[in-house]
Amino acid sequence: MTLASLYLHDFRNYAHLELSLTPGVSLFFGKNAQGKTNLLEACYYLSTLTSPRAERDLDLARWGTDRFTLGARLTEPDQTSYIRIDTIVRPALRRRVLIDDRPAKRPELVAHFPCVYFSPDDLYMVKRGSSLRRRFLDSLLSRLDPGYARELSRYEDTVTRRNAILKKAFMSSSWDKTLEGLDQILIDSGSAVLNRRLSLMSTFSGQVSDTYRFISGDECSVSYSSSLGDLSGSREDTARLFREKLASIRAEERNRGVTLVGPHRDDISITFGDKTVRYFGSQGEQRSVALALRLAEARALEERLMRKPVLLLDDVFSELDESRREKVLSLCDFGHQILLTSTDPVPIAGSNVRMYAVGEDTVKPL
Ligand SMILES: Nc1ncnc2c1ncn2[C@@H]1O[C@H](COP(=O)(O)OP(=O)(O)O)[C@@H](O)[C@H]1O
Ligand SMILES: [Mg+2]
Repeated sequence: MTLASLYLHDFRNYAHLELSLTPGVSLFFGKNAQGKTNLLEACYYLSTLTSPRAERDLDLARWGTDRFTLGARLTEPDQTSYIRIDTIVRPALRRRVLIDDRPAKRPELVAHFPCVYFSPDDLYMVKRGSSLRRRFLDSLLSRLDPGYARELSRYEDTVTRRNAILKKAFMSSSWDKTLEGLDQILIDSGSAVLNRRLSLMSTFSGQVSDTYRFISGDECSVSYSSSLGDLSGSREDTARLFREKLASIRAEERNRGVTLVGPHRDDISITFGDKTVRYFGSQGEQRSVALALRLAEARALEERLMRKPVLLLDDVFSELDESRREKVLSLCDFGHQILLTSTDPVPIAGSNVRMYAVGEDTVKPL
């Protein structure tokens, strides 16, 4: 699959843009704040209906406008298809998604046009606390498995409601019955979430190690680390463990007024041997691990969807040494289309590289 052309109307700083693209590497270069990231963001939105950075679609419509349109033409050896998304952002959010003129939902979009976005901020996924790692896992899982997002949101709503009740239960035992009911939903939905996360991790951790070895030649391991303890048993075992754990920390939860265990408190542990990368990895190593997570995301999507995701690599080259750059670029030899941004027109060897100058709210192929 090749993203053969891209169409933006009133998206971010682009009033109107039509751009032809070719397989291989497309390098978008230009000064800061010219709209390079905005282009990759448009591609990601065409794949997932979400922005990798904006919280709200409202921010995506060009200033002074209330709607935007994005389009893509995708080619395969034997067919061409079209995606078109119209989003009205004001007064209320309304969206129309068409694949080949037929209404489509998010899972069909992801399956039709998988994309992976890597940003320099992905470093924080490796370096900071657990919430960005959970978000990474949740975002990937909800693209691999449409039922996951539903289960996760049921779980998260339950945590919110349960926390509110825990705060009241501190003062009186009249909430015990309500809490019991919520515990049951927490355990059911939480075990479903855990089950899907663990099932992904059983293949994903190997994919991260492989991609890290590919980029850097070194070893790194990744595993799921649960606030519930050892989750090697069946789904029933997980549910039982969850119930026991809640019973053992009941007093503490009531004191603190928050749900202290469950998938919302879990983490992915990333290590070099017995060293935690978060604490002991150099900045360069941490960056490469972040990139490996993204490339493993691409592999996981490819295995499920049977399509090579387009790699949207934002400002990556400033961060990588020569040999790692070459590794990343070599991915187009394996069939990935790569869209790359940079503030400089970095010299890249190869016949399958096209350069585009980004500036003055437009993009010009060189
Ligand atoms: N909704 C919007 N409408 C118009 N312009 C926008 C909007 N959102 C961001 N911009 C412009 O886009 C610029 C940033 O573009 P970006 O793609 O992040 O730049 P870079 O080329 O550095 O990656 C900002 O300086 C701002 O002027
Ligand atoms: Mg940018």
